[in-house]
Amino acid sequence: MSRKLRVAVIGAGIAERHLMGYQWNKALFDVPVLCSLDEDRGRNLCQKFGIPEYTQDVETLFGRDDIDVIDVCTPPHNHFELSRRAIEAGKHVICEKPLFGSIADVDAMSEIVQRSDRKLMPIFQYRYGTGLQKLKLLIEEGLTGKPFMTTIETHWWRGPAYYEVPWRGKWATELGGGLLGHAIHAHDMLNYVHGPCAELFAYGATLVNKIEVEDTMALAVKMQNGSLATLSMTLGSRKEISRLRFCFHDLVAESILEPYTMGRDPWQFTAGTPEHQKRVDEALSTYENKEDGYTRQFELFHEAIMADAEPPVTLQDARNSLELVTAAYHSQRTGQPTPMPIEADHPLYKSWLPDTEAAA
Ligand SMILES: NC(=O)c1ccc[n+]([C@@H]2O[C@H](COP(=O)([O-])OP(=O)(O)OC[C@H]3O[C@@H](n4cnc5c(N)ncnc54)[C@H](O)[C@@H]3O)[C@@H](O)[C@H]2O)c1
Repeated sequence: MSRKLRVAVIGAGIAERHLMGYQWNKALFDVPVLCSLDEDRGRNLCQKFGIPEYTQDVETLFGRDDIDVIDVCTPPHNHFELSRRAIEAGKHVICEKPLFGSIADVDAMSEIVQRSDRKLMPIFQYRYGTGLQKLKLLIEEGLTGKPFMTTIETHWWRGPAYYEVPWRGKWATELGGGLLGHAIHAHDMLNYVHGPCAELFAYGATLVNKIEVEDTMALAVKMQNGSLATLSMTLGSRKEISRLRFCFHDLVAESILEPYTMGRDPWQFTAGTPEHQKRVDEALSTYENKEDGYTRQFELFHEAIMADAEPPVTLQDARNSLELVTAAYHSQRTGQPTPMPIEADHPLYKSWLPDTEAAA
């Protein structure tokens, strides 16, 4: 039987987009309380979205029995602790990217979740763009053929004002640079389409802003499915674009260039022959339009909770995305290609922070 899930939202930044997602799904979710440290922003959101209660004290949320889900929209450095407390208090968790600060934390959380009867869903809302979903449909229908090559560009602009927010730009609180914080969505799309990576080589640099973490990176990747990929990320592109290009034996899929909505229509699907193009176009004409972004991810989350099934984005998905990041930092620092998966014996398993920051 379906019922509404009651969500406590922690945070008042990107949390606004979450609240829009819940508002679109108002038959599925209620938000009885919002918690943030910045009272002005928090109270504003409560007013805007009709949330009856505002608090600054996160401790009061865990013991409440009128909350089913805790939605963590805070900076990355406290995602693990807030998620752990919530699961152990018997709540489901939705948590923003980047999920945690190490593969060890992801594995520890898998155990915590397995011991409970609760679910944790990392956020990767970009997956639900219609263009990308159409590519998934063509793969399911067997219309793409063998995968060869993927190129992904995340070329955005971030100036000094962006880094005035105290937690940004620092290893200890942002946990990484543009690779972790910005390109993670596009790189999740790589894993979403092709599965996990097998090995990568990376160069990284801090060229654009005076920050601790990287803002520019170039990666060469082998996927476990045998295809190859090149990924480039910079926060120094005065013209902002995201571009994904997937080459398969039977077609090429190309995203739009809109930097923050690159998963959306209209993607181009170009087949190798007119006959195959006809089959591709026919399959695409059967695609059923759905909501995208947070709205769709939350709708699927509700479905999963009602069915006691895996959430639409899993801890393994977050692990794949953070393995790519861990391997890239390792490769950049050692000058060596880095194989994956990253297991407990890897030197960066417990933390990818540079030594000085890890020890601080
Ligand atoms: N999925 C996306 O597209 C996307 C986009 C932007 C940000 N994010 C992620 O969302 C997270 C938050 O980013 P942001 O831009 O909203 O940051 P922000 O600094 O604008 O907001 C963070 C909020 O968390 C609150 N907060 C922090 N610690 C708290 C605590 N202990 N108790 C209660 N409230 C607390 C702060 O008061 C603030 O309201 C980050 O992990 C970021 O990477 C994701």
